[in-house]
Amino acid sequence: MKKGFIFDLDGVIVDTAKYHYLAWKKLANELGFEFTLEQNELFKGVSRKRCLEILLEIGNIQASQEQFDRWMIEKNEDYLEYIAKMDASEILPDVPRVLEFLKNKKVPIALGSASKNAKPILEKVGLLPYFESIVDGNNVTKAKPDPEVFLIAATNLQVAPQDCVVFEDAVAGIQAANNAQMTSIGIGDANTLTEANYNFNDFTEMTDDFLNGLLA
Ligand code: BG6
Ligand code: MG
Repeated sequence: MKKGFIFDLDGVIVDTAKYHYLAWKKLANELGFEFTLEQNELFKGVSRKRCLEILLEIGNIQASQEQFDRWMIEKNEDYLEYIAKMDASEILPDVPRVLEFLKNKKVPIALGSASKNAKPILEKVGLLPYFESIVDGNNVTKAKPDPEVFLIAATNLQVAPQDCVVFEDAVAGIQAANNAQMTSIGIGDANTLTEANYNFNDFTEMTDDFLNGLLA
């Protein structure tokens, strides 16, 4: 039976949440209010547009469509400045080991991310060649927890959804994987990712035996 593996990007492969946070915080401060790390948790796995909607709700700010669009662009431009400086040192621990393990087993790998910046980030950190398919914010119409992003990835890999394994750090992402009938693996706090089929704090905890078990 052919298996397929799908990785989320932000918080699974690289810790870009801190850059998203700094860019959103700068905008919030410009608009005259604070944006905390705790509030940033709500932004994980959530589309850029929805993040801005939440940010403006936090700041109790009404915006015209024109202002809204301008702030979306401004936040992304600030975020891209951080991304421009990224290199392989920002890959999260043991991600390359797991990618290499799967490659050696000839298991097809896809990216399933809400980000519209996914491809340049993978390029910057040098991991792009591992991915047979990149499905990101540019390819989807429905946000996680809708399963669309992962179902497109499964189709691209030519693997049945129930034979796909998803690595996710966001609650909405685990729900999306479950909604797609895939095996969901939470990367992060098990107390937060309670709906995941399996949980690891990070990839250093994931043994080759566990990965072999998923392939069996
Ligand atoms: C997700 C992040 O991967 O991508 C979210 O977890 C982010 O925080 C979303 O808002 C969209 O990213 P981008 O790069 O298109 O603004
Ligand atoms: Mg994520």
